[in-house]
Amino acid sequence: MQETSRRHTAKGKSIGFVPTMGALHDGHLSLIRRSKDENDIVVASVFVNPMQFGPNEDFDRYPRDIEGDREKLEKSGADVLFIPEAKMIYPQGFATRVHVDALSERLCGAFRPGHFSGVATVVCKLLNIARPTRAYFGQKDFQQTVVIRRMAEDLNIGVDIVVCPTVREPGGLAMSSRNAYLGAEERKAAGAINGALQAAASVLRSASGTVPEAVSAMKSVLDKEQLISEIQYAGVYDPLTLSEAADEGKEKLIAVAVKIGRTRLIDNILI
Ligand code: PAF
Repeated sequence: MQETSRRHTAKGKSIGFVPTMGALHDGHLSLIRRSKDENDIVVASVFVNPMQFGPNEDFDRYPRDIEGDREKLEKSGADVLFIPEAKMIYPQGFATRVHVDALSERLCGAFRPGHFSGVATVVCKLLNIARPTRAYFGQKDFQQTVVIRRMAEDLNIGVDIVVCPTVREPGGLAMSSRNAYLGAEERKAAGAINGALQAAASVLRSASGTVPEAVSAMKSVLDKEQLISEIQYAGVYDPLTLSEAADEGKEKLIAVAVKIGRTRLIDNILI
């Protein structure tokens, strides 16, 4: 992969990179298309990274469909597909971890200890291997994009991190490979997530709406949905620091993480 990238770069070509864990949906494909518009060569990777899953999480049952992914990537115009094996990424003796302080501990980090160091480590390695000009990530994993941007800047990786809009299903549910776990009723219930984000946004857009009012509007939408078994967080945050937002200030991140049955779903909007 490094050799392939060097060959293209030596010819003056720009490389757009879309790292994924596979089970590709339209959200991923929108990243491929954006990368295609902005670069000469598009590289996609598929690697279900064991380091970013906790011991009781869904690594073993995470959806895998490499043939389907290959077909979708080819149709969307990806040029190179990189599918490393775990033993290539983490060979015997592997002993390094990349950890981005503070940003990794907030929001999802509080419920998934070690997750963001797993993400930062693998993305750092993948960027060093694919050596892209630009790398593309979806806004749905907002905290991930903040952690990766910090890591790339702090470690002088020399890549532009491009964050692309969340792609939604017709009812507003953010596309995610984990939506495959949802039964029909659960999928309907998951509509409450976007409903809660919109409720908070409409409070904050009104002239006198405050952050606490927005948070309680969100929680009341989520509380009404019987199939939501746990609200991990639902709040309004500063998009740069991920700490709780004050009423004043410009851009705000409205973000939610809930469980529906055993399935953990996250979503956010920026206003
Ligand atoms: O967002 C994902 O699919 C993963 O976290 C990533 C960025 C491919 C790293 O494993």
